[in-house]
Amino acid sequence: HDNENKKEHVIHMAICSPVFTEDWKAKVVPELDALVTSCVAIPCSFTYPKDNLPSSKLRGIWHLSDPPTSLVYHEDQTRVLDNFKGRTRLLGTLGQNNCTLEMTEVKDHDSGPFCFRIELAKTNEPTRDKFSFVEDCVTLKMLHEPPTPTLTKPDTATVGRSYTVTCSVKHTCSSHQPTLTWSRSTDVDVKSYREIHSGNWEVQSTLTFTPEEKDDHEDITCTATFNGMKTSTAKFTLFSFLYYRIHTSAYRCTQNFNHIIIPTAVGIGITVIFGVVCIFMLKKYK
Ligand SMILES: *[C@@H]1O[C@H](CO)[C@@H](O)[C@H](O)[C@H]1NC(C)=O
Repeated sequence: HDNENKKEHVIHMAICSPVFTEDWKAKVVPELDALVTSCVAIPCSFTYPKDNLPSSKLRGIWHLSDPPTSLVYHEDQTRVLDNFKGRTRLLGTLGQNNCTLEMTEVKDHDSGPFCFRIELAKTNEPTRDKFSFVEDCVTLKMLHEPPTPTLTKPDTATVGRSYTVTCSVKHTCSSHQPTLTWSRSTDVDVKSYREIHSGNWEVQSTLTFTPEEKDDHEDITCTATFNGMKTSTAKFTLFSFLYYRIHTSAYRCTQNFNHIIIPTAVGIGITVIFGVVCIFMLKKYK
């Protein structure tokens, strides 16, 4: 019986062991947009056989694919190419298998490809006993103009009823999200952030207000300000659809009608009172 238990245990170990002995693998998003003057955060992860390797011996390096000796990121800044000095840092923690790279003040020739390499420093001597493992690369697609925000709004706006517009804009720098501002800055404004897919993010702002009659034909703008200060704007005119016009003019019509009814009623009232007084006087002096 004891033997059988042991056998089961062995089988169990055999099934589970691949989980513990992971391969050396680096995974970098293959392509990502980058806004010139702004920043970009390149998602990157890797796996390695954890069982007998302390993460303190790991060294994450980013380099150009050609030549691979040109370093874009290294913990020792003196080894980094002058062009990238002070502009790159690891956002991820190597101990958590995260090699996400941030590049700031993006220049239009920073397209890469950039490759991540994980090294294992066996000793403290920097030049000896260093093992290089698989690598993976990313190509940046340079954007000279920032993406324009997208506005989503209901088809109808009614005077006196709550109205909600959302403004969203895409970006690729999760460490410095763009800010969204509205022309109606006094209204309620709720912001949210989400990752659409690897490295591509969307910031959203929701504006809620109650339109008044005076807001008809008002231009409402949403401005996105990106890290590095580039901006883009989306605009729309409130009540610009036919339905709005009908609705607003119907509203105005009632108003105008009231403006006629009230003086008319007052006029009729005065006439009646005047008539009554006249009849009364006539009867009294007859
Ligand atoms: C890697 O690190 C970045 C920056 O801290 C973080 O945003 C991202 O979620 C991390 N990725 C994973 C897979 O944990």
